Amino acid sequence: MTVETKLWSYIELGADGQLRAVEEAAAMLRQGGLVAFPTETVYGLGADARSTAAVERIFAAKGRPSDNPLIVHIARIEQVEELALTVSKLERRLMELFWPGPLTLVLPVREGAVSPRVTAGLDTVGVRMPDNEAALRLIAAAGAPLAAPSANRSSRPSPTTAQHVLEDLAGRIAGVLDGGAAGIGLESTVVRVDSAGGRIHVLRPGGITAAQLQAAAPEAVIVSAAGEAAAEADIPRSPGMKYAHYAPQGRLIVVRAASDENAAQRVARYIREELERLRADGETTGVLSFSAEPYSADIVERCGTVGRPDEAARLLYAALRRFDEAGATVILAEAVPDEGLGQAIMNRLRKAAAGQVIDI
Ligand code: TXA
Ligand code: MG
Repeated sequence: MTVETKLWSYIELGADGQLRAVEEAAAMLRQGGLVAFPTETVYGLGADARSTAAVERIFAAKGRPSDNPLIVHIARIEQVEELALTVSKLERRLMELFWPGPLTLVLPVREGAVSPRVTAGLDTVGVRMPDNEAALRLIAAAGAPLAAPSANRSSRPSPTTAQHVLEDLAGRIAGVLDGGAAGIGLESTVVRVDSAGGRIHVLRPGGITAAQLQAAAPEAVIVSAAGEAAAEADIPRSPGMKYAHYAPQGRLIVVRAASDENAAQRVARYIREELERLRADGETTGVLSFSAEPYSADIVERCGTVGRPDEAARLLYAALRRFDEAGATVILAEAVPDEGLGQAIMNRLRKAAAGQVIDI
């Protein structure tokens, strides 16, 4: 079904206009419609989390597998009580330190608090309070917690601008609140706290780093459930992590060298050799670079530098979309160090590459 998608230029409006935009968008949500909104991580596609009909529209609009649960967004920390059966001391500390912000907590769900479609039948619910004014106003005005996955078609890179949302979902959703470009550019960190065991399982690395979690909870052990080694281990997983994600249409290959002083040059040399071979084979080539190394590919996307992983994160998804626009058939990506925010970047690159990482 095609609908007209309303676009509100929230950031360009005055106070009255913003209020009207939020009220119109909230009314659409209360009627069971889908409204995309900005957050500090990526744009979310919101629906009333209590309405099964509304939540089903999210899965239909995105083409999302129904066994992948949705994150529920709230506007005030106290709203978590409506959603979660229990909140431990450690969980509360994390909320107080990191909310509003890019941290999702997976909590035991209170029965009947949200549609079972939101949790995909699990007995837990992922909750977060986004750090974005338009988002917080929209959630408050809707008067309901909002289920919101990233506002992209399933398997496309997450949207970091309203324009990206329209590229994927125009005609399929009721509206988009344009709050400008997302500041972080990668999705939230998803954690499950095992309070009895004193562990924080990182189900998906994101805007809050392992080091930030460790500093907030010095007594806890931070366990990565998303790294390569953890893939086989018996630890709670985020169902979404098993799907091909964030992927450009071309084949993406990550090139990584053991960290020594010549690592960057060795990666660059390998990529340059591969480019020659691929171009001789008639491929349309792309390079995703976090350095100043020169490359002659059909399209070269530069995403900040290794020393500025925040910039790399912010620019990454837009760059992946541009490879599609340029028709790149093969993309070679420089790896970044798997630490700090780099863990989230490498996680997304590995997913976009469907695990194809070349170690040289
Ligand atoms: O930054 C974000 O988190 C963005 C913005 C819009 O808030 N949202 C987002 O949602 O990335 P989505 O649906 O694209 O990713 C949600 C992730 C998936 O990997 C999903 O499996 C996991 O969170 N998740 C949600 N509920 C869960 C639960 N109850 N248990 C384990 N993992 C859960
Ligand atoms: Mg997503």
